[in-house]
Amino acid sequence: MQKFTSVADVSNVEELVTLARDLKSRPQAHHHLGQHKTLGLIFLNPSLRTRLSTQKAGLNLGMNVIVMNMDKEGWALEFQDGAVMNGTTVEHIKDAAAVMGQYCDILGIRAFPTLKDREEDYGEHLLKKFIRHCKVPVVSLESATLHPLQSLADLITIREWQPDGRRPKVVLTWAPHIKALPQAVPNSFAEWMCRADLDFTIAHPKGLELAPQFTDGARILHDQHEALEDADFVYVKNWSAYEPYGQLYSGGEDWLLDNAKIAHTHQAKIMHCLPVRRNVELSDELLDGPQSLILEQANNRTFAAQAVLLQMLAEL
Ligand code: CP
Repeated sequence: MQKFTSVADVSNVEELVTLARDLKSRPQAHHHLGQHKTLGLIFLNPSLRTRLSTQKAGLNLGMNVIVMNMDKEGWALEFQDGAVMNGTTVEHIKDAAAVMGQYCDILGIRAFPTLKDREEDYGEHLLKKFIRHCKVPVVSLESATLHPLQSLADLITIREWQPDGRRPKVVLTWAPHIKALPQAVPNSFAEWMCRADLDFTIAHPKGLELAPQFTDGARILHDQHEALEDADFVYVKNWSAYEPYGQLYSGGEDWLLDNAKIAHTHQAKIMHCLPVRRNVELSDELLDGPQSLILEQANNRTFAAQAVLLQMLAEL
């Protein structure tokens, strides 16, 4: 695997899930593979889970791991080709990426969207430039439009907890929030669920449609009650509007999930990628209840990253 930026980079999704589950049972089994190899994790935005789980994944494989918080510790980056850099930016992405590629065998990068310019964000220009100039395999640690390590961990969790003998029903439901959030997690979850063998429904208020290239094959409803009927898994996530781009949806507090709303599910497991604003996006009673899988998802982040890094190391 030369890059991991989307489900489109994965040749066999279920095989990758199986590999991750095997690594979970034997985390140190391939400790020799990463010896004398360096993993660089570059963050342009904050992170808890992605940073620590990917670092742990690299260490489980015997790699040296370097983490850099570029936004705080690096030079201010310029992303425009041909820029006359007489303003605040100090180093061009093409130079920074090329240098990092000399120090590292595999690189990861996190770069959130601006939520101001849809063409710029959905063009993934920053990620593409980084990949082009660093010249080593790249793992997305969440880009402007997708968060594939999160979605792989989510699919691992679903496979671990799904009912025996039937395809699980998975529902992604929009939730209220006080801030305009990126669409990366729901876009990514949708594209992974559409590739997996399961029944997938998305529920959101009218006007919060996700980008259609990620939801092809999903059932899309604006009635949350109808969507939740017979669900086995309910994935809760806020996102801002795709059109008009980046706009916070005002209202929608009635979309907050609680015990009463999940009464008509198959005792659905509750999922969230974290961080979560408790009692704004999802209630305490569900986050702390017996059906919550939030910590299982976070734990599986390590083995999702380890499976991806293992496949990259095998091809170095
Ligand atoms: N879910 C997730 O990506 O968490 P962090 O932003 O803390 O890495």
